[in-house]
Amino acid sequence: MRPDGEGLPSRLLIRDLAQVATPAGRAAPLRGSDLRAVDLIEDAFVLCEQGRIASVGPMRELRRLDGDVEELDGRGLSAVPGLVDCHTHACFAGDRVEEFALRAAGAGYEELHAAGGGILATVHATREAGEAGLTAALERHAEWMLRAGTTTFEAKSGYGLDRETELAQLRVIRAAGGVPTWLGAHAVPPEFVERGADGYIDFLLEDVLPDAAELAEGADVFLERGAFDVGQARRYLQACRVAGLELRLHGDQFTEAGAIPLAIELGARSVDHLESTSARGVAALAASDVVGVLLPASALFLGRLMPPGRALVDAGAAIALATDFNPGSAFCESLPLVCSLACTQLRLAPEEALAACTVNAAHVLARADRKGRLAPGFDADIVLVSAADWRHLAYHLGGPVVHAVVRGGRILRSAPA
Ligand code: NIG
Ligand code: FE
Repeated sequence: MRPDGEGLPSRLLIRDLAQVATPAGRAAPLRGSDLRAVDLIEDAFVLCEQGRIASVGPMRELRRLDGDVEELDGRGLSAVPGLVDCHTHACFAGDRVEEFALRAAGAGYEELHAAGGGILATVHATREAGEAGLTAALERHAEWMLRAGTTTFEAKSGYGLDRETELAQLRVIRAAGGVPTWLGAHAVPPEFVERGADGYIDFLLEDVLPDAAELAEGADVFLERGAFDVGQARRYLQACRVAGLELRLHGDQFTEAGAIPLAIELGARSVDHLESTSARGVAALAASDVVGVLLPASALFLGRLMPPGRALVDAGAAIALATDFNPGSAFCESLPLVCSLACTQLRLAPEEALAACTVNAAHVLARADRKGRLAPGFDADIVLVSAADWRHLAYHLGGPVVHAVVRGGRILRSAPA
């Protein structure tokens, strides 16, 4: 891969594409049969102007273009919207490869956390890294995501768990162009063991929230046994909402501990994970406006049951797909791989998987008016899939499916000639 061009070209024409595929219509979030409605144009072009999509159509309708136009040859390739990863923990230092090996030998994820490892091991490394070290780490991770076709990413704090490092994480995420979510309530740090989860939430709301709310767009909480319970999560999220933040929840990962009812009660943007969600939870979520964010790479990485993706879609729930990229439960930055898992493990159609990590993910991040579709007026964020049929995005399990990435009308990554 090589960077391909500097500066913002006033016009970029991607021509002779075998296919352009984009979620149909303009609505968001998509659910039910709308989730699989994809507009498909064969022998197509995409014209970008000033960082936006100017027109998309069949080659026979391409009019003569005068003046400066950069051209990209799309023969043998297909185009889909730039992928949107609406749930990552990409701002972390170090890794947990030792823990990975221990888990392979039989150690449990929750057991390692309870023994002071797991999330707390990354908290230690992240506090040590300093803002410059964190910036370098996130730049590296963002580059991996970009290579995999992610043009918009969300990233959470939650590996600082002290005032200084939580705010540093949010600043670093913003500076890297990510959408920052404040996950102060990720775990209780060692210095709060005596005061407990309630004392830690008091500290978060009094000492960190006022500044976190200036930096973040959303707030998230880990509602789970061994982390925070419903009462604590409610108190944290209500205060965050008053401070103007969108609400997200990590819920039903290991136990069904009340995350879906709380998300609905508070009008949260999403509830994420759902590996342990029952039929009752599926029905409740489907009847609400809360998006269920499914993270199959995390379920795979921890060897756990997959979330009930097919049941959620069939019940009419709005779902999104994301990587959950983090060093412990999902060391995976690839949305194409997540699409493969969605089709093979969650029994979603490729069209449903595409909508879930484009338009619906953009809705979770309050950007569905400009991200997640290839349509006039939308940001010119485009993935060129290295096959004539765009469904190779999900079909090629772990393969090199991303030929090139365009963001804001600029070719950022392209495969070697
Ligand atoms: O979404 N489960 C809570 N948080 C993350 C994992 C964080 C970690 O293990 O470092 C998740 O899976
Ligand atoms: Fe997560």
